[in-house]
Amino acid sequence: MFKAYEISPGIWWVGAIEWNLRYIHGFSIPNGSTNNAYIIMDEHITLIDTCTEEYWPQLMERISDVVDPERISYIISNHSEKDHAGSLREVLARAPHAKVVTSQKGKAILETYIGTERELIPVKTGDTLQIGKRTLTFTLTPMVHWPDNMVTYSEADKILFSNDAFGQFLATSECFDDQADKCLIFHEAKKYFANIILPFKKQTAKAVAAVRGLELDLIAPSHGVIWRSYISEILDTYDAWCTAEPEDSAVVVYASMYGSTERMAWAAAEAFMAKGVSVRMYDLHVSDISDIMTEVMSAKYLLVGSACHNMTVLPEAGAFLTYLKGLAQKLGSGRKAMAFGSYGWADVAQVEIANVLQACGYDVADAPQTCEWNDTPADTQAMFQSVSDLIS
Ligand code: FEO
Repeated sequence: MFKAYEISPGIWWVGAIEWNLRYIHGFSIPNGSTNNAYIIMDEHITLIDTCTEEYWPQLMERISDVVDPERISYIISNHSEKDHAGSLREVLARAPHAKVVTSQKGKAILETYIGTERELIPVKTGDTLQIGKRTLTFTLTPMVHWPDNMVTYSEADKILFSNDAFGQFLATSECFDDQADKCLIFHEAKKYFANIILPFKKQTAKAVAAVRGLELDLIAPSHGVIWRSYISEILDTYDAWCTAEPEDSAVVVYASMYGSTERMAWAAAEAFMAKGVSVRMYDLHVSDISDIMTEVMSAKYLLVGSACHNMTVLPEAGAFLTYLKGLAQKLGSGRKAMAFGSYGWADVAQVEIANVLQACGYDVADAPQTCEWNDTPADTQAMFQSVSDLIS
């Protein structure tokens, strides 16, 4: 039932499609995902990556559509995270002669999954593996997205197997970028970058520079579609995201208790609109933090509000701030922020918000905008004015 799809002469996509996956480490993925794996038919048959543990039967069936798995000589593990190596044990059980090729750090991780009985060959940047008429070249890309990451290049095919880099969480029945909705794949690539790659953008910029030195017909990532028609666009877009130059846009995020903080958020959004700044407003009770993060990555302004509750922020605001802290520590300069919200007897929540925004590198407005008990027209007018003053 599960078929392999040839993406280049002698190279087949044999991955797993996770049509119904909606969540991965704190990250919503409304369009599902793919765990891409590729088999190279050469003198020494080589599998690039595997998939999550639960999908190993699908992977094996697709491999078997091309070749008896017993004939696999090498399994290249570009990344040890379980979406790419979770089924390695199952694959090795059916590929008794296969040697695993990975980075030194990958070797240490994989040994915790599969033990030390099977041969794991560590490689470093510039090392090569002759698999017949093809030579595979390895480049370590640490922290894109774990310390163990590497990419594999086949010069004969002009294909880069890029693993997480250039990926998108998107389940599709099509293999290539030009067969899918272009807006959707670039949006999913942005969401992937904002929620996974962003803390490692410096390392990613180096990896993109290295990729630019390669002759490329395909970039075959480990998630989503394979790039063939939009290679230069995705490289340019990655460069822009790595540079983290903010756009003239704003994000207003809030958690309200009885509506005062929400009305302040409305005043903020209207102030941005009045100044011609593109703005998006998110109520944290009904919004997804990874969607918000996708917008935060490119926004010059970030306003975060919460009603004060139990001497801290509301739980939804706490979750957002925790998520933001993890991803935006090195977001870059040139961004402005403000804390706001209502309080009863202690205006401490907004100080907590301001501290997080400061830690993320934002130029934070001196005083949070607050209102006591219930917002008055003067409070919303003050909010409108403060945001107007913040805009440069
Ligand atoms: Fe797709 Fe970092 O794993």
